[in-house]
Amino acid sequence: MKVISTPLAMRAWTDWVKKKNQSVGFVPTMGALHAGHASLISRAKKENDKVVVSVFVNPAQFGPHEDFSRYPRPFKEDQKLCASLGVDALYHPSPENIYPQGYRSFVNVEGLSDLWCGRFRPGHFRGVATVVLKLLQTVSPDRAYFGEKDYQQLMIIRRMARDLNLPQRIVGCLTLREKDGLAMSSRNQYLSSIERAQAAILYRSLNRAAKKIKSGEAVLRALSSARREILSIPQSKIDYIALIDGESLEEIQTPRPGARIISAIWIGKTRLIDNVELGTVPIS
Ligand code: PAF
Repeated sequence: MKVISTPLAMRAWTDWVKKKNQSVGFVPTMGALHAGHASLISRAKKENDKVVVSVFVNPAQFGPHEDFSRYPRPFKEDQKLCASLGVDALYHPSPENIYPQGYRSFVNVEGLSDLWCGRFRPGHFRGVATVVLKLLQTVSPDRAYFGEKDYQQLMIIRRMARDLNLPQRIVGCLTLREKDGLAMSSRNQYLSSIERAQAAILYRSLNRAAKKIKSGEAVLRALSSARREILSIPQSKIDYIALIDGESLEEIQTPRPGARIISAIWIGKTRLIDNVELGTVPIS
């Protein structure tokens, strides 16, 4: 596996692969890789001749009081995992490689970026869209893979790719979950063991609410019970929980195809997000 740290070397590597008429799959990450990332990498391996993973903790997507400095950076372990999964190139740029002195250009996907997580993390999706565009320009893959756990992020990136005529296919992949249902996330490691056990309530309550809505219960009522269940966790707080249209991300009061319940909550000092698609939740 080749470890690459500059945009120039990264682009040269892809040019070399493309000259051989081979396809490139790309999995952008912020490192602290887990089984969820591994499943994106496996999918990319199945669908492409070569796979690139990027590891870059993007300062532009963290607010001033967020966890940028304590975000886990176990690069050696990430490198080992990527090698064991058959990744062909690991792109690990420095912040100066991505945002050199005097950097001034940012991408804003209007509307979609201000909803939900955007309301609680101003500037977050501007940072995400900017770095993803820069990574796509440099890596120049055929397909790029993103998890559905970050559903709003996935939809923003899809919109950006369409709006800016990016040639890449943006592939959304199902959320990987722990045995108790908690969505896999690099931030789960912030949870104490007690909080970790309590965190499973998030997915369970979203799932229960989805079943109730599908069985005809009023959306507000089903979401209120979910809210109560989540707030039974000590030190918990809800940023939002809502039923949304899967494309526009707008809040809706009656179910429709593609609708999702999305939520962001805090347990102690850890922020967790999750979502379920109504259509995929069995009623019984
Ligand atoms: O989902 C993530 O890990 C990040 O937001 C991403 C897409 C790698 C951009 O920094």
